Amino acid sequence: MKKKTTADIIENNKISDGIYSLRLKTELSNGILPGQFIGVYTENSSRILPRPISICEADEDKKELRVVYRVSGKGTGDIAAMKAGDKVHILGILGNGYDLECLKDKKNIVIMAGGIGIPPMLGLAKEIAKEFGGDNDKQISAVLGYRNSDTFLMKEFEKYCKVYVATDDGSLGYSGNVIDAMREHKLTPDIIFACGPLPMLRGVKSCAQVADIPAYISLEERMACGVGACLGCVCKTVKKDAHSNVNNARICTDGPVFLAAEVDI
Ligand SMILES: Cc1cc2nc3c(=O)[nH]c(=O)nc-3n(C[C@H](O)[C@H](O)[C@H](O)COP(=O)(O)OP(=O)(O)OC[C@H]3O[C@@H](n4cnc5c(N)ncnc54)[C@H](O)[C@@H]3O)c2cc1C
Ligand code: FES
Repeated sequence: MKKKTTADIIENNKISDGIYSLRLKTELSNGILPGQFIGVYTENSSRILPRPISICEADEDKKELRVVYRVSGKGTGDIAAMKAGDKVHILGILGNGYDLECLKDKKNIVIMAGGIGIPPMLGLAKEIAKEFGGDNDKQISAVLGYRNSDTFLMKEFEKYCKVYVATDDGSLGYSGNVIDAMREHKLTPDIIFACGPLPMLRGVKSCAQVADIPAYISLEERMACGVGACLGCVCKTVKKDAHSNVNNARICTDGPVFLAAEVDI
């Protein structure tokens, strides 16, 4: 059930240039699927809409949620100014998340993530490793794309899978994008999970189409209400939306995770 609640800020630390890790104590930490997100409200009354931020990690026992965000405007700027000990209003839990059922018959699992699409994939890598990490038949890799060598979360991914890095400026790992890095490292996935900028997701979709494999992508497009009411986040799909009876999906409620072949991006 979605609800607005108050969370306690445990930490809100800068972990890279313009990137912050926000850890919250909240009752909403139960039963989270990787890829789900929360709406984070700022205390500024001129910004009434919550900012959608993906859950990076959830700990049911400690009742904690962690999100990692980039300061990209006024709302995220307000969030970065919050301090440990402050309270923050959040809306959650939102979105569908990744369903790991699709992994049962897959051996070579590749996570591809770029920029601020990286945080939700840490939670996914952790869940996949928890479910299949002891299975020698499964190979789990992550290809992470950064602007430059000022990376974030990379070391944390290494706890769960083999990590390959690509940077736009070539200062670390492969020089170029994550799709070319995957080819360079001769990774041959039989399933891909991806989150990142739209051009990257388009590349993942076409790559998966050519290889005839499923790719599940998370769309982090602009949103308003976040709860399915305003239709401000629709994308075209092959399936009909039960709400509007047209080939539209609401990213905030039907997504943000979709099978790439089913969405027009
Ligand atoms: C499902 C989902 C998950 C996301 N997860 C993360 C995450 O884990 N980390 C992270 O750093 N960012 C994430 N984003 C993007 C984040 O929501 C935007 O960067 C943020 O809303 C920008 O707000 P702002 O006020 O700082 O920017 P402004 O540009 O000042 O915002 C103006 C308005 O546009 C909206 N907006 C602007 N850019 C975006 C955008 N890219 N996506 C959605 N709304 C936007 C804002 O909600 C606001 O209403 C996610 C977005 C979605 C939809
Ligand atoms: S943001 Fe309002 S319907 Fe999705």
